[in-house]
Amino acid sequence: MSLARDVKAGFAGRPRSLPPKYFYDALGSRLFEAIGQLPWYRITKAEKRLLRRAAPAVAGALTGPVRVVELGSGSGEKIALVIEALRARRKTTVVHVVDLSAAALADSLQRLAKIPGAKARGHHATYEKGLLEATHPPRGRGECLVLFLGSNIGNFDPHDAERFLASVRRRLRPGDALLLGVDLVKPERTLLEAYDDPLGLTAVFNRNVLLRLNRELGADFDLAAWEHRAVWNADLRRVEMHLVSLVRQRVAIPRAGVVADFAAGETIFTESSYKYELPDVESLALAAGFRRERQWIDGDARFALTLCRAIDI
Ligand code: AVJ
Repeated sequence: MSLARDVKAGFAGRPRSLPPKYFYDALGSRLFEAIGQLPWYRITKAEKRLLRRAAPAVAGALTGPVRVVELGSGSGEKIALVIEALRARRKTTVVHVVDLSAAALADSLQRLAKIPGAKARGHHATYEKGLLEATHPPRGRGECLVLFLGSNIGNFDPHDAERFLASVRRRLRPGDALLLGVDLVKPERTLLEAYDDPLGLTAVFNRNVLLRLNRELGADFDLAAWEHRAVWNADLRRVEMHLVSLVRQRVAIPRAGVVADFAAGETIFTESSYKYELPDVESLALAAGFRRERQWIDGDARFALTLCRAIDI
């Protein structure tokens, strides 16, 4: 992963764009943790409620010994719920947490160290690299459970989502499991409040990526000249986040070899958060080589947690 290369590539297109993984520096990771506590952003809270309910059944679905891998583990609170449930069933567990934020990884390793019997390892890596490391050797001994939660899948275009889950599937054996958290389509005003919250935290989270480019690539973004915008794209079923240039301006990003001119109102596309309908979750899983085994749904927040089983491919 190279920030400079990705910025150069993203700024070659129109609109210019940045991959959302770069939100998660030390501050960005903590801002996302804070967003999870906002009343308008309901994904994190709803998923934790569902996980508390589902954890015993998830643990029961595995016979053990078990390797548990979480991709994008953040604070580690969610995987800890699953590991506790496995411990209650006396299943020995090796835990792998994968995250782009070193600070978040340290938090989650500290949390997991408190659970007796769980051996935890952190991977400071992208999903792709972390998955390879955490499932090495692939299809090794013992069952494997992969957690992909929080609607992290929503950052992928549907085609890439299927490709990514298929790549997860190829690291597993038939009978291994995937626990997938997916946010569902809901009314536009609810979505816009979640992604453009009245407190302005999401705006800070979005604009923080420019601060990162200033720090890490020597860029000269004037943060006051950029505004956060969230849009519901009903055709593509995704919330989009953009940064809008408030004035005509030129920005230099020396360590990416970029000089960019923006017109007033011109945007940088920073994130897609795709929302799913329930039948799409099942067909996505199936296309990637998983069958739906159990599902827990939060009807208020409209969020689904699905336990999937790797099938023969
Ligand atoms: C962590 C990618 C699932 O898309 O809802 C939160 C990130 N962006 N608020 C999401 C995010 C704006 C979040 N994911």
